[in-house]
Order: sequence, then structure tokens, then C-alpha cells
Amino acid sequence: MGSTSFSPSISLSPSLSPHSSKFPNPSPNLFLRSHSSFTPLTLRSNQTRYRFKKLPSSNAPNFLVAASAKAEPLKVIISGAPASGKGTQCELITQKYGLVHIAAGDLLRAEVAAASENGKLAKEYMEKGELVPDEIVVMMVKERLLQPDSQQRGWLLDGYPRSSSQAAALEDYGIRPDVFILLDVSEDILVERVVGRRLDPLTGKIYHLKYSPPENDEIASRLTQRFDDTEEKVKLRLRTHHQNVDAVLSVYKDISVKVNGNEAKEHVFAQIDAALTHVGEQRKVNSGSVAA
Ligand code: AP5
Repeated sequence: MGSTSFSPSISLSPSLSPHSSKFPNPSPNLFLRSHSSFTPLTLRSNQTRYRFKKLPSSNAPNFLVAASAKAEPLKVIISGAPASGKGTQCELITQKYGLVHIAAGDLLRAEVAAASENGKLAKEYMEKGELVPDEIVVMMVKERLLQPDSQQRGWLLDGYPRSSSQAAALEDYGIRPDVFILLDVSEDILVERVVGRRLDPLTGKIYHLKYSPPENDEIASRLTQRFDDTEEKVKLRLRTHHQNVDAVLSVYKDISVKVNGNEAKEHVFAQIDAALTHVGEQRKVNSGSVAA
């Protein structure tokens, strides 16, 4: 069987096959193998022109198409400071792309709510805005990633990894995303988002008193606030974030897409959607060029 080389304009990892109507099934028995990593990516969404990470042309990736097993579903990591909008964007991404949303913070809060031993220990760290120890988090996330739904539909990992050791654990398990999205938001905006955030315990939906107010009085009356959503605690969480973000980024720099998260949520989503769509379209082009 032959092989073909070409240069796409966004990095693709081995075997990308999102389960979405936007991403038609791949040609059977094909996969993409990346030899290098990243290229410039400029995308348009409505009136806005988005420019993502640019590397020298010498770093342009060279994808080799080769015969192999069935392609796998899309795997995405979304990262960013506390209240940068990860959960909000995950709602929009899962609606469109059907990925399984796995949020480390939500898994931990479920343990806290269940008053399990892990939950009791985790709460001590969460209240201080510190990272919960790897012994609790790493296995919890790994097990969720390996569940059949995540494997079949693809996954969207939110808030993990948050340290070099967590990233190393994923690499050791052979778990690597296709894209690493970093939401970039200025600090004053983060604090405002945290103090105004409210959650609907019935639907799990995220609201903001100013930016995403509840639709009616009934919903408004049942909204709750997270125990770590105070200005004082978000500053501690931010410090932890700054201590670790560069180490995590260095693991994924070849597949990172930085998104301006300061804008309204629809505009932020437009950037992410454009990036994910581009990945899918590029893959379609690549499959087509092989078939030709
Ligand atoms: P976690 O629950 O992950 O919290 P976080 O990282 O601090 O992030 P948040 O959930 O606060 O914010 P978000 O980015 O999802 O923003 P959201 O969309 O809600 O972690 C909590 C704790 O658990 C950590 O401190 C740590 O102790 C522990 N933990 C978690 N993961 C761990 C790990 N891997 N290892 C160890 N420990 C771990 O948006 C925020 C608000 O802004 C909302 O009200 C929303 O409506 C509003 N908003 C969002 N986007 C916009 C927009 N574009 N414009 C206007 N408003 C917006």
C-alpha cells in the first residue's frame, strides 16, 4: 500500500475521526500520522478574523497517510484559568460535536457531595484553591476517559491536566488529545465572572448574574453558588494556575490553540468551533487526496 505526504494548516494527531455530522466517516483503513506539529492557522467567523498560533515555516507539519486500523474519535483538552469559561464552552462544544464532557472539578465535587473518603480529602485542598493530590485525581480521570462512551464518542477533557505530573501520567497511559485549547482571559474579568457565577442544581447549567442571567424566576430561585466562588478563593486558585500552566503547555505546545476568552461566549465559541471544524475539514481533504 502506498503513502502520501502533504502539509495541512493545523496539526492533526494520529487517527482523527470526530463523531459528528460535520465529520463524515473516514475512508476505511486509513489514519494520519504527524511527523512534526504545528502551522499557522487563520480562520474567519462572521465578521471576526481569528489568528491562532504561528510557528516558523520550518516547523510546518508533514503528515504521512498510511494504511492502518479504523480511525478514532476526536479528543480535546480545554484549559484556562479559573472562570475562564471552560465549562461554558464545553456545553456549547458537546451540543455541537457530541463529545463526552469530562470535568475534573465536577468529578471532585461529586466525591465531595457523596462525602466519600476521597471527597473529604479533596475538599480540604479545594477550599485552599490548591490542586487535589494526584493519587485521587489521576485514576479518577483516567477511568472516566476509558469508559465505553468516551472511547466511542470521543472526549472533551476540562481542567485536567493541571500539572506536569498529571500530563506525564496521561502520556504514560498513551492518552493524548488531538487539540489542546487554551482560553486566555484577563485577571479582572476572571474575578468578575467568579463572583457572579451561579449554578442550576437541576440541569447543571452555568449562569452568570450579569452575563448569562436565568431565563425565569423559577430557575433564579433555585440557583446555587459554589463554595470556592469568592474573590478571596479565586485569587488562590489563580496563583495555583499560574504556577503550573507553563509546564502543562510545554507538553502540548505542538497541538495548542490559544483562544481569546475575553469576548462574549458566542464569539469565544466561534473561535473554538472554527478550529475544530478546520481540523475536520482538513481531515476530509486529506482523506480525499489519498482516495484520489
Ligand atoms: P474547577 O471546577 O475545574 O474550577 P476552575 O478551574 O477554577 O474553573 P471554573 O469551573 O471555576 O471555571 P470555568 O473555566 O469552567 O468557567 P465557567 O464556564 O464556569 O476546579 C475547582 C477545584 O478543583 C480546583 O481549584 C482544584 O482544587 C480542584 N481540581 C480541579 N481539577 C483538578 C486537577 N486536575 N488536579 C487537582 N485538583 C483539581 O464560567 C465562569 C462564569 O463566567 C460563569 O458564570 C459563566 O456564565 C461566565 N462566563 C463564561 N464565559 C463567559 C463569557 N465569554 N462572557 C461572560 N461571562 C462568561
